[in-house]
Amino acid sequence: MMACQTDSASSDATDRQIENRIDELLSRMTIEEKIGQTNQLTLYGTTEELCAAISRGEIGSLLNVIDPADVNTLQRAAVEQSRLGIPLLIARDVIHGYRTVFPIPLGQAATFDPELIEQGARIAAVEASAAGVRWTFSPMLDISRDPRWGRIAESSGEDPCLTEAMGAAMVRGYQGGGADDPTSVAACAKHFVGYGASEGGRDYNSTSLTERQLRNIYLPPFRSALQSGAMTVMTSFNDNDGIPSTGNKWLLTDLLRNEWGYDGMVVTDWNSAGEMVTHGFAADTRDAARKAIAAGVDMDMMSHVYAQHLKELIEAGEVDEKQLDDAVRNILRVKFRLGLFDNPYIDTARIARVTYTEENLAAARRCAEESAVLLRNEGDLLPLDASKLRSVLVAGPLADAPAEQLGTWTFDGEPSHTVTPLAAIRAQYGDRLRIGFDAVADYSRQRLSPAQLAAFTTEASRYDAILLFIGEEAILSGEAHCLADLDLKGSQSELMAAARRSGKPVVTVIMAGRPLTIARDLANTDALLYAFHPGTMGGPALIDLIFGRAVPSGKLPVTFPVTTGQIPVYYAHHMTGRPATGNELLIDQTPVGAGQTSLGCTSYHLDAGFGPLFPFGYGLSYTTFAYDTPQLDKSFYTADETIHASCRLTNNGKRAATEVVQLYIRDRVGSTVRPVRELKDFRRVTLRPGESRIVEFELPADRLAFWGLDMQRKVEPGEFDLWIAGDSQSGTSTLFTIQ
Ligand code: GLC
Repeated sequence: MMACQTDSASSDATDRQIENRIDELLSRMTIEEKIGQTNQLTLYGTTEELCAAISRGEIGSLLNVIDPADVNTLQRAAVEQSRLGIPLLIARDVIHGYRTVFPIPLGQAATFDPELIEQGARIAAVEASAAGVRWTFSPMLDISRDPRWGRIAESSGEDPCLTEAMGAAMVRGYQGGGADDPTSVAACAKHFVGYGASEGGRDYNSTSLTERQLRNIYLPPFRSALQSGAMTVMTSFNDNDGIPSTGNKWLLTDLLRNEWGYDGMVVTDWNSAGEMVTHGFAADTRDAARKAIAAGVDMDMMSHVYAQHLKELIEAGEVDEKQLDDAVRNILRVKFRLGLFDNPYIDTARIARVTYTEENLAAARRCAEESAVLLRNEGDLLPLDASKLRSVLVAGPLADAPAEQLGTWTFDGEPSHTVTPLAAIRAQYGDRLRIGFDAVADYSRQRLSPAQLAAFTTEASRYDAILLFIGEEAILSGEAHCLADLDLKGSQSELMAAARRSGKPVVTVIMAGRPLTIARDLANTDALLYAFHPGTMGGPALIDLIFGRAVPSGKLPVTFPVTTGQIPVYYAHHMTGRPATGNELLIDQTPVGAGQTSLGCTSYHLDAGFGPLFPFGYGLSYTTFAYDTPQLDKSFYTADETIHASCRLTNNGKRAATEVVQLYIRDRVGSTVRPVRELKDFRRVTLRPGESRIVEFELPADRLAFWGLDMQRKVEPGEFDLWIAGDSQSGTSTLFTIQ
């Protein structure tokens, strides 16, 4: 498998032509020029200083150049003033949009809509490339099962199948125009690998994943992204089993190059090569350089160890110049494939034409709509009927917070373009509703006095309905922003209770970068929409959902724990030898002085039980969907056949709506134990009121393969359960057997 290649003969010819151009160029490069290509720096100093370094061939890539005119200036220094005219590769973290900001990736995953995600990535690429960006450090593919970890916000959640689909869609979108299309940006599959399992949900912390866990859970999204053509890979900060990824030869060479046949480029994360000294994996920066190049790192982001030591290491015979040549080949291949040698400059007038277009904003709005998850709707309060209301109070610190609404990693998003829920409801209903507004708290962590809360209750009682927007400020999630307690911050729980005391219907919208532990807050709201930082157009999307112009279809991409202490809690867990039955005595039911026994005990927490607050795949609608028992075309299959599964889905309600139909399997007995359920496919299905449809899935038996006791990937014979359901805990199963 060679990444970035398509099967067509013309593509092969192009690749051969590129390889010839690489060989020819490499043959003329000095060792200093080769090392210069491996050096990635962020914008620094004056333009003159930077141009001088570039013209000396000392820099191969720059990140965080944000002015299109500067990009051309710096590129001119590379192309017209350096000896060999090798263009720069300009990079940026375009994680969920460039100017037009889409929901954070965790929210995008809640759409279960790869086509929409691909469209969003394409829009991001068109906007970012107009600013001179040709390489984005996205998609982030870290399987994230610990919501204490702030970077879960950038992930597609806990499931490999969903993350694979989201990641591949983003790669297609970023690189969609064809690598040498000026609107394409090279994708970057990150963080390779296992970073989401950072111990304690504390960023940069160690992970302890076995090879079997890596191969069955954490690596598949990367394999899928590379098979979709991702042109680059970024190494992760964590040490796994004591080996930092940036120095892990098994990972970066034995697996990535030799087993997967990858021919793209590997970049470190920021200073992660130098940090191998801090890890205690390298004795000094010279040792770090030696270990990084030996492991298979091509480009050094911001640690300077390659620039400082590679030449001397090669002259000392400790590094073979061929290793450097291989790294430079991989870097040049990306630059050739992007067309940078032939078209290094950008049209600086383009950005004004391609950003914030109606189409871009409409796509962001649709993504925000589909990313919101309806978690509670007592008495079918939602959707609100504006014709039956005279007044609505819009309240809470996130009701009109343009920057917070964008979420983490929005370097280039402009809050001035954010449409907040307050702005949206005023624009759409200001002519027929009395709309009050009270943020109550200036920000989500602010403590409120009893007097402030009482005053809010009094104020709220004067309206027909309360729309409360709370959650997290954007800075409370993202890189290095991890939490040891996931309860609502500040006085937001008290604010919900104060709203409840008004006696009026309460709709709560939570904007956050992660699941929060809201179990005790649910009783204080009639309806709850969970909107993972919904981006530029989150306001109109949420107001449309609240008033029924749109119907919620989002499903949770990650399990919601009852309490922080329950973590890790995720749906694809092992059965264990003593699974919870659901009949366990919880702490309040446990008699004082009860005798200790180990008979009949099961795996649960006395003070939290076993199940989550909301399971993976869960989400309500404004209608109800009924699933018949799944049907299979037969009961016995060989490992090379395809399971044809179907299920009748019925919309039992009064509204047309979209359901994310999910297909799960369970391998009952394996050479190693298998999860109680695994998502293997999903489909968005829209049905009119009363409509029924047979939803069909084609599941190649090969998708049942896993790395078992002998560490070989294979489909093991035996019995399997198959569900087609609306979430990871519901549905009836059908049995089939692999012979
Ligand atoms: C950061 C992040 C990485 C990002 C890179 C460049 O530390 O870990 O995801 O792409 O540095 O900003």
